[in-house]
Amino acid sequence: MEKKILFPQVGGFVHGGDYNPEQWLDRPDILEEDVRLMKKAGMNSATLGVFSWSVLEPREGEFHFQWLEDIIERLYQNGIYTVLATPSGARPAWLDEAYPEAMRVDEMGLRAHHGGRHNHCMSSPIYREKTAIIDRKLAERFGSHPGVIMYHISNEFSGECFCPHCAGKFRAYLEEKYDHDIEKLNAAWWTAFWSHRYNSFEQIEPPFVHGETSVMGLNLEWKRFTTWNTNDFMQAEIDALRSVTPDVPVTANFMRLFGGLDYRKMAPALDAISWDNYPPFHNDRETLGETMVETAFHHAVMRSLKRGKPFMMMESAPGLVNWQAVNKVKRPGVHRLACLQAAACGSDTVQYFQWRKGRGSYEQFHGAVVDHLGTDDTRIFREVAEVGELLKKIAPAAGTLVKTKAALLFDWDNRWAIDDAKAFAQATKRYGSTCSDIWKAFFRLGVDMDVVGSDENLDDYDVVVAPMLFMLQPGTAANLKAFVERGGQLLATYCTGYVNEEQLCFLGGFPGDGLKDLFGIISEEIDTFYPSDRNGIRLTDGTIWEVRDYAEILRVQDAEVLGTYTEDFYQGGAALTCRAFGKGKAYYVAARTDGARMESLFEKMLTDAGIPVRRLPEGVECHVRTGESGSYAFYLNNTLEAVSLPGITGRDLVTDREVAGELTLPACGVAVVHTAAE
Ligand code: GLA
Ligand code: ZN
Repeated sequence: MEKKILFPQVGGFVHGGDYNPEQWLDRPDILEEDVRLMKKAGMNSATLGVFSWSVLEPREGEFHFQWLEDIIERLYQNGIYTVLATPSGARPAWLDEAYPEAMRVDEMGLRAHHGGRHNHCMSSPIYREKTAIIDRKLAERFGSHPGVIMYHISNEFSGECFCPHCAGKFRAYLEEKYDHDIEKLNAAWWTAFWSHRYNSFEQIEPPFVHGETSVMGLNLEWKRFTTWNTNDFMQAEIDALRSVTPDVPVTANFMRLFGGLDYRKMAPALDAISWDNYPPFHNDRETLGETMVETAFHHAVMRSLKRGKPFMMMESAPGLVNWQAVNKVKRPGVHRLACLQAAACGSDTVQYFQWRKGRGSYEQFHGAVVDHLGTDDTRIFREVAEVGELLKKIAPAAGTLVKTKAALLFDWDNRWAIDDAKAFAQATKRYGSTCSDIWKAFFRLGVDMDVVGSDENLDDYDVVVAPMLFMLQPGTAANLKAFVERGGQLLATYCTGYVNEEQLCFLGGFPGDGLKDLFGIISEEIDTFYPSDRNGIRLTDGTIWEVRDYAEILRVQDAEVLGTYTEDFYQGGAALTCRAFGKGKAYYVAARTDGARMESLFEKMLTDAGIPVRRLPEGVECHVRTGESGSYAFYLNNTLEAVSLPGITGRDLVTDREVAGELTLPACGVAVVHTAAE
């Protein structure tokens, strides 16, 4: 079997984080102490250079690399590997002064002033040139150093730029997409509406807020273009690095279900997926268990962006953050839970932002392994060091994978289309949380769903849920039909198949593109509720599911009706249907109901698909990683009570003890139960 471990040099889990020695160059004592403390905390990696440009190149063309070389070398001598970042996430003042075009233009057409970060123009030729120069120099100087194990491209790509360069590129992108034929674009964008026809591509502008925002096709292409252009920028950085050191793997840190970029389009250019994980621990809305399961969903999103490879948790806060509405410290034991959860979900790394708290500026109070106190005898430091020990104990699990037979479909363009559609109720569309709610319901049934795109190959799955698949990509309907035909259990919901990939409505009945035949229904109307409105779905066994927000009125053509509405003028009308198709089944839930209420239906789908269902006590979480050395079941007790779980055998790598039937976990306890491969 192919070795999947992300970092063979480390031979196990990477334990590291963002390290900013450039903030401490006048304190060699501190830099020296850092290495001692990192070793004490069980760290084997540091991420260097994320925002170091103004120190690496203090004046145009004047490069200062010696300090970085000294640090990379010293870390390496002490068993600490470097993840080396390119510095393009923030620009030195000299650069913006000399080349104002590097600064982004906003949706009002206003050029930004120098400052902040994550705000460069993605198209500016001079910014790309300056970035490529420093990237190449970094690769030349450090890329072959045995301590450098990965490149980290820029930081948290995000945002849009409306400058003339970007607008020009947008037009070129459109010309190519629509075969240089403006009439094709006019047709795709339905521009006869409100007299919005274009005579030439030159007339097209990005969707300025005080300009054209009423053409859905334009808005959608702008989002797609922003992903494309960000990808193009990222690729230019990757090319610069690869031209010198083709073999060093690259990543770029993502942010949950970030709305601005279609990560699925960016993933192929990267050797590994990494993301920054900052759950709002101990908030006033959720239990710890709920916060953890929400995080597990986001791990699943990241894991699924590159199936067949571990991912990386590139950042997480050792203690607290500084940017949430309320910045609460993690309670004792929660750091261990959060770190083990990342590993449980398929990450080969546990990395932090940040290693040491800086003295000033925006993030001076952001949590770090080393506090302003500067010592190793703090609670946070001890908890981090404990995680370091733990990661060593579970090292054999690195490189193994979370595998599943169930998938949830989530598409970024679908989300953009739903959010932009002038329909329904803006406040309750909630595509993302509708998806995560269903994912969590499956998780409570012991199923760790992948989160994949609607056009992805579904051969690995036997159960697929496609919530609110409003926009159908070309081929999606055929993909879903083929899935059901070969025996898959499929569930779709209200708001399915209204528009095609151009955001043009399907004619002849929703869900379009032939899906109405797969489900055997037509959705004739959709009723949008006020927040206090309720309806219900009465199932054939008498159970009632509460309905909120949305209810479609169905015309049943060829499907079994499993549930009907309890109220309103469509009382008695079909609300839950099932159609046997080929060897599988296609379910349609016409109204919004909580994932928790639908658990009985999900359980039936799983059982029919031969996927075992397993319920754990409230607040207890389990993920399984498997590989050639066997399987590793990670148990997390996200509660403040001890729990005992029956029916578990194997060796717990955390306690190094055999578990013979019953596993007991203390409050916030963790276990990693290994069973050897047969
Ligand atoms: C992001 C950034 C980091 C840092 C952290 C703080 O994830 O990538 O540079 O600002 O947030 O939480
Ligand atoms: Zn621009």
